[in-house]
Amino acid sequence: MSFRLQPTPPARPNRCQLFGPGSNTKLPAKMAASAADVINLDLEDSVAPDDKVQARKNVIEAIGDLDWGTKTLSVRINGLDTPYWYRDVVDLLENCSERLDQIMIPKVGCAADIYAVDALVTAIETAKGRAKKIGFEVIIESAAGIAHVEEIAASSPRMQAMSLGAADFAASMGMQTTGIGGTQENYYMLREGQKYWSDPWHWAQTAIVAACRTHGVLPVDGPFGDFSDDDGFRAQALRSATLGMVGKWAIHPKQIALANEVFTPSEAAVTEAREILAAMEQAKSNGEGATVYKGRLVDIASIKQAEVIVRQSEMIANA
Ligand code: COA
Ligand code: MG
Repeated sequence: MSFRLQPTPPARPNRCQLFGPGSNTKLPAKMAASAADVINLDLEDSVAPDDKVQARKNVIEAIGDLDWGTKTLSVRINGLDTPYWYRDVVDLLENCSERLDQIMIPKVGCAADIYAVDALVTAIETAKGRAKKIGFEVIIESAAGIAHVEEIAASSPRMQAMSLGAADFAASMGMQTTGIGGTQENYYMLREGQKYWSDPWHWAQTAIVAACRTHGVLPVDGPFGDFSDDDGFRAQALRSATLGMVGKWAIHPKQIALANEVFTPSEAAVTEAREILAAMEQAKSNGEGATVYKGRLVDIASIKQAEVIVRQSEMIANA
């Protein structure tokens, strides 16, 4: 490890972030009753320009009126290139109950974007005497966002989580795609006439995970648009979990159980991790730094890998 230790991210489950348009007043009660760890009430792209004012009112009312249990409660504000975002922040921070946990800032392109929102939020919190400091989560969904991903992760002590937004990201990068996340028809390798599909989101995901892990922020996979394709969602989520992401968005309630299943370490994985830790304890008491578990090498690095799984499982169980 470097002399500079890796900070731990917020110790709360973030397996599924359920989204709903702030303009739809039927959804908040259903969202509050769902099994999602995080709720994102949206003021941005799922709300039409003419509905922005009413959506803000709806969201403030729903946050105050409903029992959100232990969920993390977040509102996605509009992007800093729009005329809406400052009023989103002012109205939310002036009028929302302290139940609001965080705001999500979309289409972030550099640390200065976060600085601007932080300055406004800090001023309102102080003026209004809000006791609870609002957290920030951001979406990386542009070329600038991914190019400046590390400075964004480091931008504010308010930073809690960072998601990859595949659709806007693809558009900003000029990618020739139309689906929101998942397998892309034209992204394949050819061997002996056979197509093997590769993962066009892999680089952006690993860049986000590295930036987040460096700065103690939770890395999250964004939306999967085809909510009729459970297998496709699961495959995308499994890849994200393998790369170190802690959860994924749901844009339809069907996707909540899938995300919770993938991002909760399985019993088999936890059992194996505990067996590896036990094998290494035994090795240590024999004065050895490495041993054999099920015919393969395990060493001190294996302890850290196994601890990731056990810690995640215990954190979720105790939440
Ligand atoms: N949260 C909670 N409940 C939801 C929901 C959501 N995001 N989306 C749908 N439901 C409910 C419906 O109200 C319906 O409830 P009912 O059985 O009590 O009538 C049930 O789930 C089944 O919904 P369904 O008919 O399959 O979908 P729909 O046509 O009502 O809505 C969408 C489909 C995609 C428009 C809707 O899911 C949605 O708005 N998703 C979120 C979009 C979003 O926030 N995008 C921004 C982030 S990318
Ligand atoms: Mg977007």
